[in-house]
Amino acid sequence: MTGLVLIAASGLAREVLASVRRSGEHTVIGFLDDDPSLAGAVIDGVPVLGAVSAAARHRGAEFVLCAGKGADRAAIAGRLALLGIGPDRCATIVDARAVVSPGCFVGSGSVLLANVVLTAGVRMGNHVVAMPGVTFTHDDVVADFATFTAGVSLGGGVRIGRGAYLGMNSTVREHCAVGVGAVVGMGAAVVTDVPDGETWAGVPARPLYPSAVRRIDGTMGRRA
Ligand SMILES: CC(C)(COP(=O)(O)OP(=O)(O)OC[C@H]1O[C@@H](n2cnc3c(N)ncnc32)[C@H](O)[C@@H]1OP(=O)(O)O)[C@@H](O)C(=O)NCCC(=O)NCCS
Repeated sequence: MTGLVLIAASGLAREVLASVRRSGEHTVIGFLDDDPSLAGAVIDGVPVLGAVSAAARHRGAEFVLCAGKGADRAAIAGRLALLGIGPDRCATIVDARAVVSPGCFVGSGSVLLANVVLTAGVRMGNHVVAMPGVTFTHDDVVADFATFTAGVSLGGGVRIGRGAYLGMNSTVREHCAVGVGAVVGMGAAVVTDVPDGETWAGVPARPLYPSAVRRIDGTMGRRA
């Protein structure tokens, strides 16, 4: 059984830990986190082994990037690449109570928590996070580093951009797109395409900040 190191000692990391403990598929060796106040801490029975830069020391281990925001996971993936740690060293976590139908694809380092369902022909990139109860239906395409919080539902043929973030219980109409780095608020019903970098909320969803865009690194800027 391969040892697993969880990067970012976050709430998501504790959820991944609980999931893999139930499945028994991995043994978690520890967390890596840059917060100096966590050095030497033990969280849910698992030690914080050091900062992210210590990843190279764990030669036989696999990694899961547990930062809650896609931009943060992308930044960590970039740092790991500089240490020679690529997607082949990142574990894909599929909770024992998730459903991934034959013909669906889940990329390396992605995390599917309990009751996530991929119905048919879903294609998901690397380091995607789907929290409990997210539903992906036929032919959805999800780019790297996207984040789906609990209860999100996508209709068929939806496209989700790199690093997009969908808030709890939001829904996306079939064949719509959510752009790169876009944010969809809790409870929103997306019925038209959400452009790159914009934050939309409400039913039906509309731009929350019409003059602002969120860049892929998470920082805000003005719409052109
Ligand atoms: C949409 C969201 C990103 C906006 O966050 P924010 O930029 O900090 O915005 P604020 O909380 O300052 O709210 C700004 C305005 O939008 C409204 N608003 C915020 N979220 C909203 C939502 N989901 N739907 C409708 N309106 C919303 C606020 O009431 C406020 O309105 P006001 O100016 O009339 O008072 C955030 O509210 C959200 O929904 N995040 C997702 C949270 C989530 O799912 N977390 C899961 C953690 S695991």
